[in-house]
Parts: sequence; structure tokens; C-alpha cells
Amino acid sequence: MLEVRDLTVQYGGIQALNRISITVPAGETVILIGANGAGKSSLINAIIGMVPIRSGQILLDGKDLTQVHAADRAACRIGYSPEGRRVFPTMTVQDNVLAGAARLGRAEQARAYERLAGMFPMLAQRAGDLAGLLSGGQQQVVAIARAMSAGPRLLLLDEPFLGLAPVWIRQISDAIRQFRAEGVTVLMTEQMALPALKVATRGYVMRGGVVLRQGGIEELRGAALAEEYL
Ligand SMILES: Nc1ncnc2c1ncn2[C@@H]1O[C@H](COP(=O)(O)OP(=O)(O)O)[C@@H](O)[C@H]1O
Ligand SMILES: [Mg+2]
Repeated sequence: MLEVRDLTVQYGGIQALNRISITVPAGETVILIGANGAGKSSLINAIIGMVPIRSGQILLDGKDLTQVHAADRAACRIGYSPEGRRVFPTMTVQDNVLAGAARLGRAEQARAYERLAGMFPMLAQRAGDLAGLLSGGQQQVVAIARAMSAGPRLLLLDEPFLGLAPVWIRQISDAIRQFRAEGVTVLMTEQMALPALKVATRGYVMRGGVVLRQGGIEELRGAALAEEYL
């Protein structure tokens, strides 16, 4: 479904990604494991067009996204939840979530919200509260729900578990499994591999803008242990 080929990203003199190639097959949940600075966010941000690429290709169902203007990539049905669980603090929980579904009609938005609240009860309980008042875990739920609100085929989650209490990691993990059951393809990143390896189906270990290891979950668990990412 998603194929990144020989992707290079540079910021001034800093090479964040060095001819990296990854494949995300349809229906899988792929994890990018790596320490801070490995290039995980650069890869995710290149896919949504937030950072310019130096060379390489990003193919979504064979179509090269690098030729699609960033503003038009939403039509490609890619959902994105940024690192650091960014929410609009002075907007309500519901408005935050529906900000991701602006192109849907009212009735569709209501249905989308109800569906997400079925997965995350907090969205029903706190719908009218300002997002800035929520805990870190609750804000992460809002950010993921926003990414899912328009019904993406491909969901990009940048460090969804970072700094969260186990109860939120569990709830978000369950939701990711449910998204997968509904046919959504997921690409996620994590520094701490252990909880992420419980939801992923395959993945990559990155360091310094290149892939160190790739494979199924058992292989990655071993590699991540050796590299001290657990
Ligand atoms: N906007 C930026 N300007 C300059 N350097 C950056 C910028 N964003 C990231 N980098 C650098 O690129 C490398 C990869 O960073 P990043 O993609 O954020 O890694 P990760 O998400 O794995 O922590 C790091 O060396 C980082 O310092
Ligand atoms: Mg990052």
C-alpha cells in the first residue's frame, strides 16, 4: 500500500534520512522503532508533505505522493497524529476531533464522533470540555480520534504512547487493533518498543536515518532488546 523508496531528507547540513526504504503492506500495523533523532518523525512528516524531500519516492497504491501538493494529500485519505499529542487547547474535545473531519457533512460528522466515542468513552464524557484541560493520555486520544475522524485508509501515529500511563496505552492499543480489523493500515513510531510490539504486525529498527533491522515482531523483539530499545 505504502512504499517509501530511497528517501533522503536534509535540514540544512543535517541528513535526517539517508536513502531509506520501507514498505507498509495493506492491512498491516508497521512500527518504526528508534531512539530520539533516528529520523522517525522526518519519515512520517515527509509522507504527509510537511518536510521537503531531497530525493526518493513515496508511493501510495503506486501513486507518487511527492508529486501531490501537501494540501491535496488529505484527499488521499491519510490520517496523521503528530508527536507530542498536539491539540487545540482552547477548543472543545468534540471540535478538536471534528477539525479532522471538516470535509464531511454534519450528519456524517455526528456518526464519526459517535463511532469514535464507542472506542474511547472519554470522548463522550468530556465532549464539551476544553482540550487544554485534559490529561496527557486524554489529549493523545483526542489527537488520534482527530486523525481517524475522516475515515483514513492509512493512519500515521508519531509516538502515540510516549509518556502515557498504562491505562491509556492499553486503550489506544485496543483502538489500533480495531482500526486494523476495519481495514485501516497503520504506520506508527516509538522509542520504547515493548508496548508498540504488542500491537504491531511487523516493523523496522532505525538509527541515524537508516534501517538497522526489519522483520516480524519476534525478530524485532530480539533486535530491540539487543539495541536496548525495550
Ligand atoms: N526542523 C529541523 N531542523 C533541523 N534539524 C532537524 C529538524 N527536525 C529534525 N532534525 C534533525 O534530524 C534528525 C532526525 O530527527 P527526527 O526525524 O525528529 O527523529 P526522531 O523522530 O526519530 O526523533 C535529528 O538529528 C534531528 O536533530
Ligand atoms: Mg520524532
